[in-house]
Amino acid sequence: MKYEFTTDLEQAKKLDQEDPLAEIRDHFYVKQGQIYMDGNSLGLASKDAEEALLKMMNVWKTQEIDMWTPYFHYGQELGNQCAKLINAEENEVLITGNTTSNIHQCVTTLYHPTKERYKILVDDLNFPTDRYAIDSDIRLTGYDPADAVKVVKSPDGKYIDEDAVIEAMTSDVALILLPTVLYRSAQVLDMERITKAAHEKGIIIGWDLCHAIGAIKMDFAKVQPDFAIWCTYKYLSAGPGSVAGLYLNKKHFDENPGLAGWWGNRDDTQFQLKHQFEHQKDVSGWQIGSPTMLGMAPLEGTLNLINSIGMDKIRTKSLKITSYLMFLIDEKLAKYGCTVGNPREDDKRGGHVCLEHPNAFQICSALKDRNVIPDFREPDVIRLAPIALYTSYEDVYKMVEILEDIMDSKSYEKYSSKRSLVV
Ligand SMILES: Cc1ncc(COP(=O)(O)O)c(C=O)c1O
Repeated sequence: MKYEFTTDLEQAKKLDQEDPLAEIRDHFYVKQGQIYMDGNSLGLASKDAEEALLKMMNVWKTQEIDMWTPYFHYGQELGNQCAKLINAEENEVLITGNTTSNIHQCVTTLYHPTKERYKILVDDLNFPTDRYAIDSDIRLTGYDPADAVKVVKSPDGKYIDEDAVIEAMTSDVALILLPTVLYRSAQVLDMERITKAAHEKGIIIGWDLCHAIGAIKMDFAKVQPDFAIWCTYKYLSAGPGSVAGLYLNKKHFDENPGLAGWWGNRDDTQFQLKHQFEHQKDVSGWQIGSPTMLGMAPLEGTLNLINSIGMDKIRTKSLKITSYLMFLIDEKLAKYGCTVGNPREDDKRGGHVCLEHPNAFQICSALKDRNVIPDFREPDVIRLAPIALYTSYEDVYKMVEILEDIMDSKSYEKYSSKRSLVV
């Protein structure tokens, strides 16, 4: 998409005045004087999330054990709300567990290795938990990850080559797990093309949507992957460690859940407490134990807010504001050796901008001291996420102005390059 950006503050203010999502910012706890660019790690708290959490507390306080009757299907109900973000069918999406446990659930359900077809295909840029989960699930079946994990290597440490992924789909591959948006470079993989290629070769394929859900538009009715998993604490702003999402294509509802538990039992017999497990033949059959009600409630609030806006408007603003940030980096920061390390094309980049510089870690520390919250990723990446729901164009402008000052004065040099525990 083409925009006419300029480097003056007046334009940033004008862009805010014209922003159809400008007033959504008031739903969020945006700290006065702070510029928060880390919503792709932990989304800001909203009043909607807070109200939903307090409502759940009140349900517990006032209804005690009877609260289960109206809330028995809460995981599916929130799943149905979440399904709208990816255009999946209602009973294919569940809110449950965390991203990692949901990978285990899907892989142990759908990975049935044989002597001829036993490999799991992954890339080398995905978030490490996905790989840890895959390796351990392979070990559970008696195979050796050193042989059974097939890794597509990135040619440059930044991007995944889709053609190389498709070429790697050999007849010994049973299952594939890939990220939809790469957590570092924000590259968006073409889910439809890759899924189609996998299915043509009889391979099960799943997607990690952690950096995609709430950031980009997805159409599962078209893509028809076998499974997908995602967290809800980034672009969905449901709170630290909030309960995650799991999509299972309805064609797999007859499979036995890899990790079974009584909450996955058929509704009508669950409380008969028999020792014979019979799973519910929709995604709710993949629940394990009692749902984490207080950990799910904030998501109810944010999903209501996000669905009232719709992913079209959210993606439109995200593309515009990330374009604006890339424009300002090119115009104001390139001369200090800062480069844009994410794809430029609209359909190839997710919701954050990846600013690269050899002193990225020190620059992040300098930014934090100036009340700008970015995050750092090895080896030289500053991730900056202007979130469509609450970041203003003026925030972006001011952040770049602060960065310009840090680079020009070289004030970042006084900060240590040693990592702390959580960055
Ligand atoms: C792509 C991706 N997958 C998984 C995770 C984390 O998994 P979990 O939600 O189980 O902590 C992250 C966390 O940032 C991530 O970026």
